[in-house]
Amino acid sequence: MEPNKDKAKLIEEQNQKIKDTLDQIKHRIVVFSGKGGVGKTTVSVNLAYALVLDQYKVGLLDADITGPNVPKMVGITDMPWIDPENRHIMPQEKEGLQIISMAPLLPQNQPVIWRGPLRSNAITQFLSDVVWGELDFLLADLPPGTGDEVLTAAQKMLPQMAIVVSTPQEVSLMDCRRAVNMAKQLNIPTICVIENMSGLICPHCKKEIDFFGKGGGEQMAKEMGVDFLGSVPMEIDTRKSSDEGTPTVLSKKKSPSAQSFMDISEKIAKLISAKKMNRFQ
Ligand SMILES: Nc1ncnc2c1ncn2[C@@H]1O[C@H](COP(=O)(O)OP(=O)(O)O)[C@@H](O)[C@H]1O
Ligand SMILES: [Mg+2]
Repeated sequence: MEPNKDKAKLIEEQNQKIKDTLDQIKHRIVVFSGKGGVGKTTVSVNLAYALVLDQYKVGLLDADITGPNVPKMVGITDMPWIDPENRHIMPQEKEGLQIISMAPLLPQNQPVIWRGPLRSNAITQFLSDVVWGELDFLLADLPPGTGDEVLTAAQKMLPQMAIVVSTPQEVSLMDCRRAVNMAKQLNIPTICVIENMSGLICPHCKKEIDFFGKGGGEQMAKEMGVDFLGSVPMEIDTRKSSDEGTPTVLSKKKSPSAQSFMDISEKIAKLISAKKMNRFQ
């Protein structure tokens, strides 16, 4: 910390920087779920690229500080450019998407053993110090659950939309309801649900197997009075594309998952323009 400035001044400066950042970003979306492993990062990355393919300027903030997977899924291996003097961090560009994540800043395979305030501070810095520039959409891929990072992202990012990802089985839907209620309590104006891993597409016969069941996400959205954006099937190619760092909407454009992501991104754009969302709504 700079010795001659008191803490209040530094916080004020940081808040001003965040306001300047947000001023240049039209639509802010947080992607979360009550549970880990349901596909938040897969959904965030593919929706972000689907929006890029639709000619929007898009940023993706990896807000999963202890399990940052975005760089792996988009194939980023190098470090972002940091100017320590002015505390500027440049987002990393990959195939037209602007990305920031803790992952390249950490030694490989080392755990991030940080308590909540430090993790929240990292997210705050991703908003105050990263030079995002003008964007149509900024998506934040949040960690599982309803903890500190989710609160910080909601308070600092002022998202107009929350996307809650669930898989169809009851144990996931149960946690998803908590996430929807958290989004309601945080007064996020538009709350939507996506059902991921909705049916498994057999790579041999191409028929669908209801591995985790189907339709629970839509039903839950209806019951809770929130929007349902659509379902994404489980496909081997989608998993492989993520592991290889080439998201399915870029590498397997005709696959059912890629088509679902494209349809959902169109719905998001329509929903946002229909509700005429303002920058600080
Ligand atoms: N629709 C899908 N089809 C196939 N594999 C998927 C799908 N969605 C996610 N996965 C895989 O499931 C695993 C967990 O997904 P991930 O996006 O990391 O979940 P989360 O971010 O919620 O922890 C990853 O290996 C990912 O590739
Ligand atoms: Mg993740």
